Amino acid sequence: MMSKQTRPRLEYLEEVDSTNAWCKRQLAALQNGDAVFAGCQTAGRGRLGRTWQSAPGKALYYSILLKRPLADLASLPLAASLAVQAALQTQFGVECSVKWPNDLLLGGKKLVGILCEGVPGGAVCGIGVNLTQSPTFFAAQGLPHATSLQAVTGADLPADAARQLALAISVQFCESPLLEAFYDKGFPAIRSQYKAVCANLDQEVWFEGGEGIAQDLDEAGRLVVETQDGVKAVFTGEVSVRGIYGRV
Ligand code: BTN
Repeated sequence: MMSKQTRPRLEYLEEVDSTNAWCKRQLAALQNGDAVFAGCQTAGRGRLGRTWQSAPGKALYYSILLKRPLADLASLPLAASLAVQAALQTQFGVECSVKWPNDLLLGGKKLVGILCEGVPGGAVCGIGVNLTQSPTFFAAQGLPHATSLQAVTGADLPADAARQLALAISVQFCESPLLEAFYDKGFPAIRSQYKAVCANLDQEVWFEGGEGIAQDLDEAGRLVVETQDGVKAVFTGEVSVRGIYGRV
């Protein structure tokens, strides 16, 4: 007999190695839309093999399992960035832009990092949102291009800000018509919404293998860059695009 999908669950853990790793370990027990958030991570992971710094109690560490067919796994990080952008707008009234492919920026600095990983039958989307760290914290960590919601807005956040935001993100992933359209049709379904918030367009960008002006996003979510050697399509995951935080 097929087991019935129940309402997605949101689990809280005081401490975990990585919420993405936790979801992958719990894969068999979790259903589509189940999510976890943690007060701190001891082995948080970032994109391109980097680590993700933990600030206990001062940030959201969240992962959601999408256990469903996805038309376009490669551009899931771009769709995830729109889900988090909308949740931050709804919950805290802030308008983030997106640095291709999936960093959310506020006041020109990085507020959110996203790491999506394919799993059998779907994907895990891991999201780190800086909430109340101070500028001094980021300077001490050697992260001059990072910021937090409180550092930008100057407003005190509610004590349960992480839970509120986790719930708002889950609502976007599980109930937003835009995300539903993306799951079925892939990047073309969200292309215009993504372009409207993308911070790279018309900007100079550097990537492994070239530099130029980012002109567009193609139907696969690739950044279309006009270089001296012609137009190149830069693909999610293969490269890191620089330009917003300065050329490093
Ligand atoms: C990046 O490099 O920008 C991506 C960072 C992703 C961090 C989040 S925090 C929750 C989830 N668990 C992890 O280990 N990583 C992601």
